[in-house]
Amino acid sequence: MQIAVVGATGAVGQEMCSILAQRRVPADCLRLLASARSAGTRVPYAGTDLTVRELTKDALAGVDFALFSAGAETTRAFAKPAAANGTVVIDNSSAFRMDSDVPLVIPEVNPQDAHQHHGLIANPNCSTIIMAVAVWPMHRVNPVRRIIVSTYQAVSGAGAAAMQELRDQTRRVLDGQPVEPKVLPHQSAFNVFSHDSPIDESGYNTEERKMVNETHKMFHDNTIRITATCVRVPVLRAHSESINLTFDQPIRAQKVRDILEAAPGVRVVDDRAGNCFPMSIDAAGQDEVLVGRIRQDRSDPSGCSIALFVCGDQLRKGAALNAIQILNLLTS
Ligand code: A2P
Repeated sequence: MQIAVVGATGAVGQEMCSILAQRRVPADCLRLLASARSAGTRVPYAGTDLTVRELTKDALAGVDFALFSAGAETTRAFAKPAAANGTVVIDNSSAFRMDSDVPLVIPEVNPQDAHQHHGLIANPNCSTIIMAVAVWPMHRVNPVRRIIVSTYQAVSGAGAAAMQELRDQTRRVLDGQPVEPKVLPHQSAFNVFSHDSPIDESGYNTEERKMVNETHKMFHDNTIRITATCVRVPVLRAHSESINLTFDQPIRAQKVRDILEAAPGVRVVDDRAGNCFPMSIDAAGQDEVLVGRIRQDRSDPSGCSIALFVCGDQLRKGAALNAIQILNLLTS
């Protein structure tokens, strides 16, 4: 089996390589592709070095599965021709996520959809994945009618250059030097700002709209009322989210905790006595979505509302790991 990682030099691509190495995929099954800028770069892989090649149509010939994480433009240019040539593309970009003939899949949520593909499967938005992994197991027991979510998003979602920018800016601020944002539109060190995606006339940004539309698609339920506020925080790689849920029927916080304790891909971190709850530094590098602060929302006298807080690694479950779990679904 030949697997290509497209965008292998990027933050998500590197994480894909590290997960494939952990899963003992042999180096000779792997093709690392990126832009012409990176052609010839050597990347360490499972005790050896692999050479990055330029992404071209020919470079994908004979590839069985291609994991794309090189931006929507690259996907639009290369994914469909590759699929037409027999490669199954699992794409991390937003290019085709909402297309009706492209499954959008989180293995813990809608694994059955993965098998309906026509050569192209989309990996959802990172904030959406982290929320959906936590919400889905509750939704199955007591349908969720409304979601109010506020995100605290790491800079990794904007790529490896944004992560480096946060490191560099942090040093400069501590040294009393001026900073000049280049990758993200505002200073990321010691700052919090509204998500850097375009805002439409309704006042929502693209990230917020993805959280609504992609959740509807994967849950197969367009009636769930969802509103999101997406914000960047000076964190390298784990997203946090405050989530308020209103269910169809009254539900107790203990019931929610029991459901989440048994849910795949979730780890309950809810130590009230120790005031210890999900934190980005604990979620970073982990596979599970951490869930805590599970409590009844007292502002809803019907007893149908629950508040909670989640953290998940944007590069792993929010991107690379989810894509590789989709690959596993198709190959096992
Ligand atoms: P390169 O490093 O050669 O620019 P990130 O999300 O961390 O910014 O990474 C983006 C990834 O997508 C990188 O591996 C980058 O490669 C790759 N990429 C960007 N543009 C292209 C392109 N036109 N063709 C192939 N790969 C691309």
